[in-house]
Amino acid sequence: MSVSDVASLVKQTVDIVDVVGQVVPLRRAGHRHVGLCPFHQEKTPSFQVDAENQLYYCFGCGSGGDVLSFVMRYQNVSFGDALRYLADRYHIVLPEKGDPRTLGAGGADAARKQREMLFSVLRTAADFFYRQLHHSSAGKIARDYLQRRQLPQSVVEAEKLGYAAAEWDGLLGHLTSLGVDPELGVAAGLLAKSSKDSKKLYDRFRNRLIFPIVDEQERVVGFGGRALSDHLEGEPKYLNSPETAVYHKGRMLYQIPRAREACRRNRQVVLVEGYMDLLAFHAQGFYRVTATLGTALTPQQVRILGRMADEVVLAYDGDDAGEKAMMRALPLFLQEEVAVSCIRFPDGLDPDDFLKREGLSGFEHLLQGRRDLGGYALRKILDGWDGSSVGKAKVLKDLQPLFSAVRQPVLRSEYLRLVADRLSLSEEIIERQWLHGSRTGAGPSRAPRRRSFQPRAPQAQTLEERIVRLMVHHPELIPDVAASEAVGHFQEAGLKTLAEVILGSPHPPDHPFQATRVYDGLTDPGLQELFTRLLLEECGLEEPRVQLTDWLEMVLRRRIKQENDHLNEALRQADQDGDLSRMLDILSKKVQSLKPPGKGEGPIG
Ligand code: CTP
Ligand code: MN
Repeated sequence: MSVSDVASLVKQTVDIVDVVGQVVPLRRAGHRHVGLCPFHQEKTPSFQVDAENQLYYCFGCGSGGDVLSFVMRYQNVSFGDALRYLADRYHIVLPEKGDPRTLGAGGADAARKQREMLFSVLRTAADFFYRQLHHSSAGKIARDYLQRRQLPQSVVEAEKLGYAAAEWDGLLGHLTSLGVDPELGVAAGLLAKSSKDSKKLYDRFRNRLIFPIVDEQERVVGFGGRALSDHLEGEPKYLNSPETAVYHKGRMLYQIPRAREACRRNRQVVLVEGYMDLLAFHAQGFYRVTATLGTALTPQQVRILGRMADEVVLAYDGDDAGEKAMMRALPLFLQEEVAVSCIRFPDGLDPDDFLKREGLSGFEHLLQGRRDLGGYALRKILDGWDGSSVGKAKVLKDLQPLFSAVRQPVLRSEYLRLVADRLSLSEEIIERQWLHGSRTGAGPSRAPRRRSFQPRAPQAQTLEERIVRLMVHHPELIPDVAASEAVGHFQEAGLKTLAEVILGSPHPPDHPFQATRVYDGLTDPGLQELFTRLLLEECGLEEPRVQLTDWLEMVLRRRIKQENDHLNEALRQADQDGDLSRMLDILSKKVQSLKPPGKGEGPIG
């Protein structure tokens, strides 16, 4: 069975209304169910579940999809985990990779048992490290280290810090003496296998201060270990647990339960990069803080942050590396629509150094003066402008990725105004330059984005969107769309793809729209959201066929006008350059474009 077979099996068995209904109180309204969206704060319900098509969409925040994407988003889990969760809950027999014996509910049971055993061995290790720190003579070196770093005893105690002694078999021996299978220690990331002899195991953490990492349920899932000296001699400063069945660095954050609780009163959370930075805050009695786990920030982490707080404040190291990391984090926040600001520490300090020097009051002063990260990044790029016209084009190119990540129209227009002011260009020209850049392929190479299409706010309906919505609500008119060339001239990539997928799916006459087919044909989550929205939005047209004819024609006319605008611009440029032959060339193109369009080219109707 392929993954997609498994997914469709799960989707056939599970009712989305039931799954959503367990976490969101739903009220029935026709074949829809409505409730308060679990993905953003709202007082009036804009979250809808479509029982017929087994899809959901929120008109407030634009999230939408099927039952699997709901579980993924709600629980912040991967596609595979969402499948396993639903299968487990609804007793669906899932084939496990490679091992036919673990087929079925028994397999899920075994997996759960394995996880329980991992939690237990991790707990055992944490206790062991804790005792080593406090009650062993070897632990003195770590106790001295903590003193040098001025970490108060109360914090050391509260976070259950520990010490892994400078031995190859300290933990190994301890686990063996308790009768714990060493393979379990390997699976938990505590023990490593010798590369020469895989039967030989040894302690992963040696001579390190140990930071236990807990999940949302406060179970120990992994460890970070800091070397006790800054003379590292080839050893990494920090050594972390590898990814295991219970430890996922990209889906967790350090000290998250504590931060979540503190954010209940003040929905603003500070994000730092280091364990010691975070503990320096705790030392000052400040708990609205969390940290990444030695890896770059992920979209899942941003979603976790966005659910526990209304604003995330990045407090990264004050050096260039810290600033670069901040800039890399920005698009994630823009895509997830989580408000983000930043503070910069003076003199390249990190939060730990800064708090030691200036105390919490110094930090609170910085916090007061925090800046919106998007605006900060924008100004940074604008500051790089050398004042020349060529420089303008370069700056615009640098800004494009940032703009393509902004999902909120209000924010986008604010940023656009700022750029227009600074570069003394009209907003329209800027947009055109970007359009031009992406058409000629000269645009910035964009990092692959999780969503390649950003749905708009419901009120900002474009022509193309109206056409696609109409296709969804009036499948009998799909052949009309197919007969026109309008879709080929769509400018919004997402809508174009969606329209093409709809045109490519079979739509038997006199049948309702084949929503599930189309949805399953879309692989991009952004497109799936767009589709669920169009499907759940009212269409309400009196004369759909007349409307459609109009709209298709508008698309074609728009293209002709744009071509003409381009020619005019080129003409102006050629005139400025005094290039007569180019002018003549352009003029002849213009004359051609005024001729009535040839077969299949012109507006229909
Ligand atoms: N980190 C890591 N592996 C490394 C270095 C760093 O995983 N080899 C992660 C750790 O989570 C660390 C964070 O990146 O907490 C920040 O690293 P860095 O700024 O180098 O360390 P500090 O937090 O300043 O730690 P310290 O003050 O102990 O030097
Ligand atoms: Mn530091």
